[in-house]
Amino acid sequence: MHQIIALIVSFIICHVVALGEANFSTLLNQTSTNLTTLNDTLDVAIRTQRDISRPVPLDQLAVTGMSLTNMFLNDDYSSDGISSLRDLLDSGMQAIMVDLYWNEFTSVWQLCPAPFPQNVTHNPTDKVNVTWNNVTYTCQVGFTTDNIMSIIKSYLDASNTDFEANFLHLLFNLKSIHYDKSNLTTSLENIYRPNSHSNIVGNSTLNATISPIASYIFTPQVLQDYRSQILSSSSSYASFYNQSSLDMPTLETVLFSQYKRMLVNVLSDELVPSPRVYSITDTDREYIFFNTTLPTSIRTARDAEPYCQNLLSLNHNLSTYNNLSLATLFDYVVDSGDDQFSPNKVQSFLRCGLLPIFNGTSYKIGDQGVSEVEDLFETFTPYLFWSWRAGEPRLWTNSTKDLSTDDNLDSGASYRCVVLTADGWKVDDCYQKYQIACQNKTEPNDWCIPRDVEQTYFDVNRGHCPDGFNFSLPRSSTEMLALMTAVKNQHAEYPIWIDLNDITIPDCFVSGGPYAQCPYQKTVTTTKFVRMIAPASVVCIIVLIAVLLEKLLRTNHIQSNRKRYWKKALAEYYSKNDYEGVPS
Ligand SMILES: *[C@@H]1O[C@H](CO)[C@@H](O)[C@H](O)[C@H]1NC(C)=O
Ligand SMILES: *[C@@H]1O[C@H](CO)[C@@H](O)[C@H](O)[C@H]1NC(C)=O
Ligand SMILES: *[C@@H]1O[C@H](CO)[C@@H](O)[C@H](O)[C@H]1NC(C)=O
Ligand SMILES: *[C@@H]1O[C@H](CO)[C@@H](O)[C@H](O)[C@H]1NC(C)=O
Ligand SMILES: *[C@@H]1O[C@H](CO)[C@@H](O)[C@H](O)[C@H]1NC(C)=O
Ligand SMILES: *[C@@H]1O[C@H](CO)[C@@H](O)[C@H](O)[C@H]1NC(C)=O
Ligand SMILES: *[C@@H]1O[C@H](CO)[C@@H](O)[C@H](O)[C@H]1NC(C)=O
Ligand SMILES: *[C@@H]1O[C@H](CO)[C@@H](O)[C@H](O)[C@H]1NC(C)=O
Ligand SMILES: *[C@@H]1O[C@H](CO)[C@@H](O)[C@H](O)[C@H]1NC(C)=O
Ligand SMILES: *[C@@H]1O[C@H](CO)[C@@H](O)[C@H](O)[C@H]1NC(C)=O
Ligand SMILES: *[C@@H]1O[C@H](CO)[C@@H](O)[C@H](O)[C@H]1NC(C)=O
Ligand SMILES: *[C@@H]1O[C@H](CO)[C@@H](O)[C@H](O)[C@H]1NC(C)=O
Repeated sequence: MHQIIALIVSFIICHVVALGEANFSTLLNQTSTNLTTLNDTLDVAIRTQRDISRPVPLDQLAVTGMSLTNMFLNDDYSSDGISSLRDLLDSGMQAIMVDLYWNEFTSVWQLCPAPFPQNVTHNPTDKVNVTWNNVTYTCQVGFTTDNIMSIIKSYLDASNTDFEANFLHLLFNLKSIHYDKSNLTTSLENIYRPNSHSNIVGNSTLNATISPIASYIFTPQVLQDYRSQILSSSSSYASFYNQSSLDMPTLETVLFSQYKRMLVNVLSDELVPSPRVYSITDTDREYIFFNTTLPTSIRTARDAEPYCQNLLSLNHNLSTYNNLSLATLFDYVVDSGDDQFSPNKVQSFLRCGLLPIFNGTSYKIGDQGVSEVEDLFETFTPYLFWSWRAGEPRLWTNSTKDLSTDDNLDSGASYRCVVLTADGWKVDDCYQKYQIACQNKTEPNDWCIPRDVEQTYFDVNRGHCPDGFNFSLPRSSTEMLALMTAVKNQHAEYPIWIDLNDITIPDCFVSGGPYAQCPYQKTVTTTKFVRMIAPASVVCIIVLIAVLLEKLLRTNHIQSNRKRYWKKALAEYYSKNDYEGVPS
């Protein structure tokens, strides 16, 4: 009896092991659908950047976002207009900027910048042309913030796993559909004010607007609770960031211990004072950040450029970088029609620690103007990382091996370690001898590149860095700027090894030397893994049954059997993949 169960369990675990070691992107495929994104490189790049930034405070994470206004203007204010929103989120877009209009006639928040005459239509799916302040917009009558929230919510639900979770910014610009009440405007009121036939859709408070995603929101209260109980940390890395006068929790804390996925931040409040204006309530302030509760800066692309060029000149000293690392500020840069982002500009801004928000309606790519969001992002996505160089990490797994133009078929096998180049990170051959990046244990912006040390990735050891320094990698854009400055000042030569590799499991980049384990491999037989692959997977059901069986019928016999099985499966995996010379 026990043997049979053991057999079944072994068989299932075998499948799990196989799955766990399969390319992660295969797993991702099952959870996401159709994207521009189903590009393995992109998936791995996004996850790697997230994972290495886990110990970094939230405000230090440079991510990219998009204004919905430009999607609406290209299409119209309707559910068609935001049809690509889900794809954008899946492809790593982490901020969404929305203009919310307070309609003074109806007292609801709406997305359409013009009020609807109450006699236009009673069918919520109809699109109508409406005019306000001499501008005509095409708006769907029943299209509300709820449509946006439900897309965001479905994305958050689907990606709420250790493997995929990331942190989003929902940014609001508050505006008014305003009129002055007077004898002259009574006719306006007659047109736009609700009457017995009107069926007003929309929410009348900000709180109601965001309520569909309320459980995911990193609220001012969560932040305050965190600040009131910061414990002195045992890690010297954390102690450095805790010197900040205004502490922010790390990505790790927010995602994996507070279980929050997004913050809602009012970037601008252009509500026109009026007796009918919306007044922000205390309940709103419980969920939403305003400029008084979250230090925020908004730059135009034009203003940001000289600032960023100056930083990228790498002429600064340690204290400049420390000030940047310890200044708590969400520093957004928003472009516009006449001063647009280009791929290189966006990447520069990210390197400077800014959060670029696309707000143009059409972008020039090559000789062409592009306004389709998908086309736009196909061009831009490789550049949306402060860490990776465009097109990296090159994946040497089975599916892409044929891309290698080298004569030597096995050339990919040792391309599992990461170097810093002048343009960002790049996968390189672990057996190459390069200089190495050593980071001060107590001051992450202090780097040393030992002059006479050139080692293969495998041979780097503790002795190669000076006392107080570790072979390491930059975990934020500022740490990377500081490292690049050190490279310049210490006359080191790119490429330089940083501590990042995917030796143990292909496409799972980890730091901690060649022995570092992939964190997703460890959880492989737990329910976490089940969650990881849960959506749309038959395997998940089998694993669930296995886990249940194991729990119900657990005996020492099965336990030991399982361990042996694991060892064998892993050994087979390594021999199959021919990791010759790689210590194991
Ligand atoms: C993953 O998705 C891509 C693009 O849709 C598809 O070509 C590929 O066959 C999928 N792979 C698996 C294993 O489903
Ligand atoms: C996938 O994308 C194509 C083209 O962009 C579109 O025609 C198709 O309907 C999409 N399929 C799904 C399932 O979203
Ligand atoms: C709605 O009312 C306005 C003003 O009363 C009028 O000009 C317009 O023709 C009406 N539209 C419809 C579709 O009835
Ligand atoms: C709205 O205006 C556009 C352009 O002026 C026109 O093509 C479209 O048919 C109009 N839509 C409706 C519903 O009237
Ligand atoms: C709309 O246009 C008319 C004529 O072109 C002009 O007189 C009026 O001031 C404009 N109104 C606004 C709000 O711009
Ligand atoms: C508005 O109408 C009221 C009475 O109908 C009148 O007393 C008042 O002077 C009018 N105001 C203006 C600005 O016309
Ligand atoms: C917000 O508005 C939508 C659309 O009118 C409605 O379905 C929803 O119930 C409202 N939410 C709240 C909390 O009032
Ligand atoms: C505000 O939204 C939250 C979350 O949806 C809800 O629990 C709370 O009751 C709302 N407060 C008010 C005053 O509407
Ligand atoms: C916050 O925004 C309000 C309204 O936009 C403005 O009056 C105020 O000066 C801002 N406060 C800070 C600290 O930026
Ligand atoms: C976004 O672009 C629009 C149109 O170009 C502009 O009016 C608006 O001010 C921009 N938003 C921000 C926050 O700069
Ligand atoms: C995936 O994205 C990289 C850049 O990130 C690009 O170089 C590569 O061509 C893309 N691959 C596919 C199959 O689209
Ligand atoms: C990739 O894997 C398939 C089946 O798993 C195998 O037939 C093929 O030879 C492999 N290709 C390379 C280049 O390793």
